[in-house]
Amino acid sequence: MARIVFEKVRKCFGKTEVIKGLNLVIKDEEFFTFVGPSGCGKSTILNMIAGLEPVTEGKIYFDGRAVNHLSPKERDVAMVFQSYALYPHMNVYENMAFPLRMRKVSKGEIDREVKRIAELLGLTPLLYKKPRELSGGQRQRVALGRAIIRRPKVFLMDEPLSNLDARLRIEVRAELKRLHHRLRITTVYVTHDQAEAMSLSDRIAVLHNGEIQQCGTPLEVYTRPKNVFVAGFIGSPPMNFIEARVINRHPLEVEIGGRVFRPLVQRLPQTESVTVGIRPEHIGVQSEPTPFQAKVVLIEPAGAENWVDVDLNGNIIRGKCHLEDRLTVGKNAFLKIRPEDLLIFDPIDKDLC
Ligand SMILES: Nc1ncnc2c1ncn2[C@@H]1O[C@H](COP(=O)(O)OP(=O)(O)OP(=O)(O)O)[C@@H](O)[C@H]1O
Ligand SMILES: [Mg+2]
Repeated sequence: MARIVFEKVRKCFGKTEVIKGLNLVIKDEEFFTFVGPSGCGKSTILNMIAGLEPVTEGKIYFDGRAVNHLSPKERDVAMVFQSYALYPHMNVYENMAFPLRMRKVSKGEIDREVKRIAELLGLTPLLYKKPRELSGGQRQRVALGRAIIRRPKVFLMDEPLSNLDARLRIEVRAELKRLHHRLRITTVYVTHDQAEAMSLSDRIAVLHNGEIQQCGTPLEVYTRPKNVFVAGFIGSPPMNFIEARVINRHPLEVEIGGRVFRPLVQRLPQTESVTVGIRPEHIGVQSEPTPFQAKVVLIEPAGAENWVDVDLNGNIIRGKCHLEDRLTVGKNAFLKIRPEDLLIFDPIDKDLC
């Protein structure tokens, strides 16, 4: 078990500063995820925790002890990568036993542990197969098993599910979550997939340009994104952004498509116009009249409901509608938006008001 602390951690490759002063506490037993677009520095952070990349400046602590100068082995972490490097000539049993054999654990104990972990991961029927006889998801589970069997202080996972197809990804994801509930080993996870981050994590850090934009529980980050970047990155389909005129300041009133809304804010924007964020799931599009009209431009079935793009005074925004509601592309429909679902962003600093 371990608590991981970053203190003013900077990382440069040559003259390029990739991580710009990271201060963060990852709690003991936490499932913590770094999420962000490609190239934002996620793997670099993980590699610094593992000891595979030196820190340029600042300190990383495990349980209060600086680990900057410890080798990966001394840090007692287990890392699972995107490409699960199994030994091709060894069967599943031998692959999983390998880390324990290296530690000179007795044969009897290795056998007990391999069988216990195999059971945990649903690998028992596959123990005597070679990696080439397994599917991608099965191989990934073996790689996880091999990491778990060491009982490390910390699990580090760098996009471990990205090689799997959509369905397996969701299956193995659920398995990871169950495992974490059982083993309670501090886990630092990296993904560019916001849905994966949201579903797995106790807390997430949204990373952009080498800096944490926001750190919090998935719900906090979803309901109160700190700025336009976080708001646009978290949630699927992505949040709609509309420029809106400020009609009144006390209380704040904004005009969208000829309608006046009174959104909830914690501070007033400095400007005469603001960026309004509305999640597609918070815009009802329907044939039943409301005072708020827009033209349907696209209908996209999504199983339980439809996503609908509408043209609202030249802005294309996305909402949802019930399957039974027969809307027609090119015709008008009506919108239902609750003022409390509007997020107001200051157009200058891009922060949530
Ligand atoms: N060894 C290296 N030498 C020079 N630059 C590097 C090195 N490793 C990473 N970088 C640069 O540092 C930045 C962050 O890279 P990193 O691999 O941490 O991103 P990432 O968030 O993991 O991206 P992805 O989602 O694509 O895996 C990138 O701009 C990358 O080009
Ligand atoms: Mg990476």
